[in-house]
Amino acid sequence: MTESIRTQVGIIGGGPSGLLLSQLLHLWGIDSVVLEKHSRDYVLGRIRAGVLEHSFAELMREAQVGARMDREGQIHEGFFIAHGGVRHRIDLEKLTGGKTVMVYGQTELTRDLYEARDRLGGLVIENAADVRPHDVETAHPYISYRQGDETLRVDCDFVVGCDGYHGVSRQSIPKDRIQTFEKIYPFGWLGVLSRTPPVSAELIYATHERGFALCSLRSATLSRYYVQVPLTDSTDAWSDERFFDELRCRLPPEVATAMITGPSIEKSIAPLRSFVVEPMRYGNLFLAGDAAHIVPPTGARGLNTAASDIYYLYHALVDHYTGGDDSGLESYSSRALARVWKGQRFSWWMTKLLHRFPDDSAYDQSLQHTELDYLFSSERALASLAENYVGLPF
Ligand code: APR
Ligand code: PHB
Repeated sequence: MTESIRTQVGIIGGGPSGLLLSQLLHLWGIDSVVLEKHSRDYVLGRIRAGVLEHSFAELMREAQVGARMDREGQIHEGFFIAHGGVRHRIDLEKLTGGKTVMVYGQTELTRDLYEARDRLGGLVIENAADVRPHDVETAHPYISYRQGDETLRVDCDFVVGCDGYHGVSRQSIPKDRIQTFEKIYPFGWLGVLSRTPPVSAELIYATHERGFALCSLRSATLSRYYVQVPLTDSTDAWSDERFFDELRCRLPPEVATAMITGPSIEKSIAPLRSFVVEPMRYGNLFLAGDAAHIVPPTGARGLNTAASDIYYLYHALVDHYTGGDDSGLESYSSRALARVWKGQRFSWWMTKLLHRFPDDSAYDQSLQHTELDYLFSSERALASLAENYVGLPF
């Protein structure tokens, strides 16, 4: 080991979770170092989700990174579910007593967080190879990493694993100290980003006998569309023309007719999977965001659930450093998991409601139709959907 850095909180992963945590801690005078495996350009090149719940938008403002989001993001007061050729509007604002969501791409949000860390002089180390947490069972953990031929280390009080589903943090915990819960769905989402005006100002989630489809957007000139596809499909088999034909086919006729199409600027297939690890702590290693749980994208919970982890963890660390109170750290895992599981439940419910499952029997399909009929005939059922979509309280 050559060089070593000393900090209070060592954060593995420079995605939204890690950057937001380090920014919030900084505002309370708590020092952190973020170690990111990839380059900033690589991280900012990933196309991810774009619906922020009410409390997440608030947390961004609290972190002093809300200015561009408030300028360029769009407040959405509702969205549509299309079923049987008809669009049903879910009036989020009315059903929740005034709550809305913010449509603002994760890519933009991550860019804002990087810029905020730069502005405040935060240390985000890019291209950190072979990052590994050590001695997390002790009061003196450290993280080792490599840059070129040099091996370096970050000594810290706590390690926070914000390194996503494939990260090293969760994998470094002995298998007999954690339990994993997993559900793999028998399909994926084929997504296309195109520089075209969105077909609808509000999102349309569509269910159709050929499968699910979603019309989303990033801005007035950037559309994001998805169709459910078998896991065996590859993007090579999906020309832009085939994609848009399939999308139109799954949408109500007036939406299909109004759609303006253009060349895709990104096209990818994402499998749908639910995953949770319990507990979200091992000694002085804390897990947050995708490192601890993932959901299928249907309910737009992934990024939002990461934000609630960060909210609990940041308060717990502030209480530890400013008041010597460790109760927040002790209860972090159980508090975070209580909300994580509600996000899991909602994502599973929306996925089941709107997708075509290849092995479903006629009975299963009738139940799915009945669930939709019930939803659109009951203000209470709609209110439950809306309450979850705008985000349950932290
Ligand atoms: N060492 C350092 N960094 C790593 C390592 C590692 N071994 N492995 C992964 N990383 C980095 C990744 O390159 C990535 O930038 O950790 C980061 C994790 O970021 P995300 O995967 O975006 O996870 P998170 O920050 O928790 O973001 C919340 O919720 O559902 C999703 O789309 C949503 O990605 C979003 C996530
Ligand atoms: C997206 O815009 O990428 C998006 C929106 C809503 C979802 C999932 C993805 O539920």
